[in-house]
Amino acid sequence: MKDFYTLDDLRHWDQIAPTLNPPARLAVIGDPIAHSRSPQMHNAALKACGIEAQYIRVQVPVGHVSEAFRLFAEHGFLGVNCTIPHKFEALQSVDEVAPLAQQLGAVNTVLIKDGHLTGYNSDGPGFLRSVKESFGKEVHDLRVLIIGAGGGAGRAVAVQCAIEQCPRLVLINRTLDKLSALMAELGSLSPGTMIETAEWTDAALALQLNRTDLIVNATPIGMKPDDAPLFTRSLWQPHHLVYDMVYKASGQTTPFIAAARQIGAKTCDGLVLLLHQGAISFEHWFPGMTAPIEAMRRGLQE
Ligand SMILES: NC(=O)c1ccc[n+]([C@@H]2O[C@H](COP(=O)([O-])OP(=O)(O)OC[C@H]3O[C@@H](n4cnc5c(N)ncnc54)[C@H](OP(=O)(O)O)[C@@H]3O)[C@@H](O)[C@H]2O)c1
Repeated sequence: MKDFYTLDDLRHWDQIAPTLNPPARLAVIGDPIAHSRSPQMHNAALKACGIEAQYIRVQVPVGHVSEAFRLFAEHGFLGVNCTIPHKFEALQSVDEVAPLAQQLGAVNTVLIKDGHLTGYNSDGPGFLRSVKESFGKEVHDLRVLIIGAGGGAGRAVAVQCAIEQCPRLVLINRTLDKLSALMAELGSLSPGTMIETAEWTDAALALQLNRTDLIVNATPIGMKPDDAPLFTRSLWQPHHLVYDMVYKASGQTTPFIAAARQIGAKTCDGLVLLLHQGAISFEHWFPGMTAPIEAMRRGLQE
């Protein structure tokens, strides 16, 4: 088995399939994709449930998601996960989009049944489960601030928070104008939520962080070793619940999480989100089964 396959491999799958035992029936697509930890987690789940199949990585370039989906269906795959940069293209490349995925504006899970592709989003519900596991709280009770709300993941978290009717929602983005349409949509989803945008400056953050429980990093900042900190250390407060959607392939702590822990704030990292969104994807692919969450967690840690 290779670390990852390519679209060209998928086009010549008849030559590759006989080399794989158990057969590949599930995959994650992205570009790049080599860093993804999803195979460790899903292969542990398949093994724990006695399912004779394996989960592989496939690197698919932008603009080729429909073709990749068609090839997966032809080669007997049951489902696919989509990661950066394909979640939006996937939304437009499936036959049917589940209502929540439509609302969240992205598809990260595809179920293939009799050649019909249904797109789901497990990031939003996975976010809720990971907040509950890490902080023992419901989003409904938290004042949330999202940095990177204009991206795919940030938007999904913002919409999910509005669906949960959280009391206060503050959106921050490098490109502030990207937030206008989202603001209108969130307002109609949750008229009772106080929704604001804020500038990404220390002065604006200082004001907002006094009124925030949960801080979410939905940018990729922290993935690269030379990334600057998201904001000045003196703005942290120990009561903050700090959530970083980023995870490092090495499993190392991200700088955002490390800074939060230093002042005694509670934290949740991207691996916890990966675990819970993965469990929900698994349950879409195998309806009626409960995902073996502890086997998946061990798979991720190995
Ligand atoms: N753990 C998980 O399971 C999981 C699930 C989903 C996503 N994620 C992670 O979440 C992160 C975002 O994913 P995405 O799909 O939302 O990506 P995306 O659609 O490309 O959005 C990126 C967001 O980050 C901002 N951004 C990017 N580079 C920046 C920089 N140098 N300075 C300031 N802002 C910057 C963008 O701002 P502009 O709008 O100004 O461009 C945008 O808001 C990624 O690291 C991804 O791995 C993790």
